Amino acid sequence: MGFRIIANDQDVRICVFMVGLPARGKSFISQKIVRYLSWLSIKVKCFNVGSFRRQLGITQPDAEFFNFANQEYVNIRRQSVINTMESMFQWFEDENGTVAILDGTSITCERRTWLVEECEKHNIQPMFLESWSDNEDLIMENVKEINTKSPDYAHLDVASATRDFMKKIEYYEKVYETFDSEKDGHLTYVKMVNVSDEVIINKIETYLQSRIVFYVMNIRIKPRCIWLSRHGESIYNVEQKIGGDSILSERGLAYARKLKDMIEENAPGETLTVWTSTLKRTQETAQFLSFKKLQWKALDELDAGVCDGMTYEEIEAKYPEDFKARDADKYEYRYRGGESYRDVVIRLEPVIMELERQENILIITHQAVLRCIYAYFMNVPQEESPWMAIPLHTLMKLEPKAYGTKVTALKANIPAVSTYKEKGTSQVGENTKESQLHNILRRDSEVALSR
Ligand code: ATP
Ligand code: F6P
Repeated sequence: MGFRIIANDQDVRICVFMVGLPARGKSFISQKIVRYLSWLSIKVKCFNVGSFRRQLGITQPDAEFFNFANQEYVNIRRQSVINTMESMFQWFEDENGTVAILDGTSITCERRTWLVEECEKHNIQPMFLESWSDNEDLIMENVKEINTKSPDYAHLDVASATRDFMKKIEYYEKVYETFDSEKDGHLTYVKMVNVSDEVIINKIETYLQSRIVFYVMNIRIKPRCIWLSRHGESIYNVEQKIGGDSILSERGLAYARKLKDMIEENAPGETLTVWTSTLKRTQETAQFLSFKKLQWKALDELDAGVCDGMTYEEIEAKYPEDFKARDADKYEYRYRGGESYRDVVIRLEPVIMELERQENILIITHQAVLRCIYAYFMNVPQEESPWMAIPLHTLMKLEPKAYGTKVTALKANIPAVSTYKEKGTSQVGENTKESQLHNILRRDSEVALSR
């Protein structure tokens, strides 16, 4: 429950200042922190200095604009930071925010001293997150990526954009002052060297700061796939009962066999690790896969407490108030003696952390748990995630990219019952089944980043 306490603590207000040369992954890291903390219900927002500069009318500047010898341009850039900070302070006040991320370069000591002073005036804890890299290949990859995504370079061909971007980096290098334990010992900072080859941590003082540090330490950027599947159809699914620890139906077993073929077809030659819950239906679904397997208690289905083993109709008849309350706020509703979606998210946090560290993983789990994992990767808001339709006998492939996650859903074409219950009814209906796949894919498959 630690995160709830933090999120409700009026006194904790943190600003994370990104530090580093262009193309060091600052926006990438900022967006990931936003996604992670908002998934944990912590009020967080990223403020991108480049966007504020564009609001001042400087939309597609060439490298000269970043020449620190040109005072006129330096002044405009300083104004962009001032405007960004004002907007950020306003957000803390108006929205009662907890964590703001200032996505700029903040590469000089003078600038950082000013940022700290401003934060002190507003009773906000400043924390710096530096991304330092001398890996030429990685930097060139990043430059390519940024040039295709950033509105600043939309008007240039790749070669000209790259040339201009490299010149911009050169200008920044001339004034760059990296974090150093002697001169910066008094500041709260994390310095990431070549992603997470080395991480230097200084003066982390609060629990929330330490969570952010721990999270960024686990970030990997190597391309990989995360495969997600619910278990095959179970006997309880057929009987429309929730919870329990039943075995698979014949059709569920057929899916388990098919899953092996689907993985071989879609991930030929790949080594995966398979994560299941401790319940029989996920293990039976994994039984034909010849990869290393790991059971997580944290992947067990949402605990329905006294309602475990009942159908939705029985719950509505026996606990009508509870049934209504759950429909009214499905994320927060906690079954008597059981769990809410919020509880599931909190217990899944170590799974997500480990998932960030790992390469290719196949997770075989349950409806509610899968919704929570999917919500993390796809940035699905809390009001929506418990209502997402994730059908049985469907394999999902998630590919985390620089600015979002690409999702592909593969249907096994083995019939299964629908376990989807719409709001306001106790029926789980075949008629909703067709729209289910549609429902998850309706979302933009790559979560857009505003830069
Ligand atoms: P700019 O200041 O020009 O906006 P930036 O530092 O914000 O640049 P991003 O736009 O975040 O850079 O760069 C995205 C790329 O950085 C992605 O391709 C991502 O894989 C890569 N990346 C992510 N983390 C790191 C890291 N710690 N070090 C270097 N590159 C990283
Ligand atoms: O019906 C299958 C199931 O996994 C149940 O065991 C579980 O209680 C339910 O789905 C979770 O879905 P919802 O939150 O929509 O009731």
